[in-house]
Amino acid sequence: MRIYKGRILSFENPSSPREYRYMTVDDNGRIVALSDERPHVGGKLVDYSGSVILPGFIDTHIHLPQLRERAMISDSLLEWLERYIFPAEKRFADPEFAREVSHEFFSSLLRNGTTTAVVFSSSHREATEIAFEEAMKSGIRAVIGQVLMDMNGPEELLTTPEKAVKDIKAVASNWHGFDGRLFYAVTPRFAVSCTMELMRTAAEIAREMGLYVQTHLSEQIGEIEEVMRLFPEAQSYTDVYLKTGLLGERTIVAHAIHLSDRERKILAEAGTKIAHCPSSNFFLHSGVMDLKAHERAGLTVSIGSDVGAGPFLSMLEVLRDAYYANMMSPFKAFHLLTMGGARALGMEDRIGSLEVGKEADFVIIDPEPLAGADDDPSVLLSRLMILGDERNISATYVRGRRLAG
Ligand code: GUN
Ligand code: ZN
Repeated sequence: MRIYKGRILSFENPSSPREYRYMTVDDNGRIVALSDERPHVGGKLVDYSGSVILPGFIDTHIHLPQLRERAMISDSLLEWLERYIFPAEKRFADPEFAREVSHEFFSSLLRNGTTTAVVFSSSHREATEIAFEEAMKSGIRAVIGQVLMDMNGPEELLTTPEKAVKDIKAVASNWHGFDGRLFYAVTPRFAVSCTMELMRTAAEIAREMGLYVQTHLSEQIGEIEEVMRLFPEAQSYTDVYLKTGLLGERTIVAHAIHLSDRERKILAEAGTKIAHCPSSNFFLHSGVMDLKAHERAGLTVSIGSDVGAGPFLSMLEVLRDAYYANMMSPFKAFHLLTMGGARALGMEDRIGSLEVGKEADFVIIDPEPLAGADDDPSVLLSRLMILGDERNISATYVRGRRLAG
């Protein structure tokens, strides 16, 4: 048993945080008590007085092979993919390179306070296996999937529906559900690079094996025009995914910027979750997602860094951009980052907040250097959200184990 002492904040409620002084975590990494007074149980006291303790950050959209491709300015998403990203992802055919970047990727996430990440790997089965191995060793929670494309990309990155199924079965049967910490996501890249047949096959295997699904939706106008040209029978971009069976409760779509109300309704009825990626959307000039419209439609919104189109691994920096994109209180921003992420994964009973019975994923924050330890939590958290970055993270815990700091 360990008792953590600090300024503990949790965001179950988007309009006001809960605050405690002590958090007791059992040897299985589960939270057994939260209180203002020191609990009368035996256990080692871990004293973080002067620090803030927040729920672990959940990044619901990030590309592992793009870690070293950040800040590549380009005229459009499609040009950026062709000129920088596809060539970079080809390099993951080399297992040694894949291992080096995967290791760096998960340790950097943990250093930044990210305790759960939803990850696009490259188009390679072996590199995806390696990503799982490195995620396992790091102790992080992750949902990972091999990127599927079977058109409009370089030959080396293309698959076929048959090969895709073999690859998914091989990797998902090893890793999906591993230690309750690692999961597989079927990952068709986006409609521009997938045939109907590949998307249908992907949807089927995901349903059969109970896997997550992740893809991109409606990020840029030029991309949407391309989708409508490729699938002229579809009523909308969202309709393409609906027809293929890819939309469901375990599906996360990234961006979802240029949507009609009808598309929002389709997504909401399917129970599909949104990864809002504001830093990426600013970087590629994709547009601004309308958070209020999404919430009116009943959609679950979470936050993604979308590295490498997003320049920041630090979810504090991504939150700053979320605030610039849509006016919101810092409580709401941290709620989306933590509870929103947990809901996107259907894991709100296990992670996403510091509550008794949940697993102890948390971040130790030193507010002094930039933010100052203001008494008012709203001042403290706005400073952290607007000024904070990796330097404010002094330690990261997953399931009660310190993995960074
Ligand atoms: N759409 C299809 N692939 C990608 C990608 O790698 N990054 C982003 N931001 N959008 C995409
Ligand atoms: Zn992306």
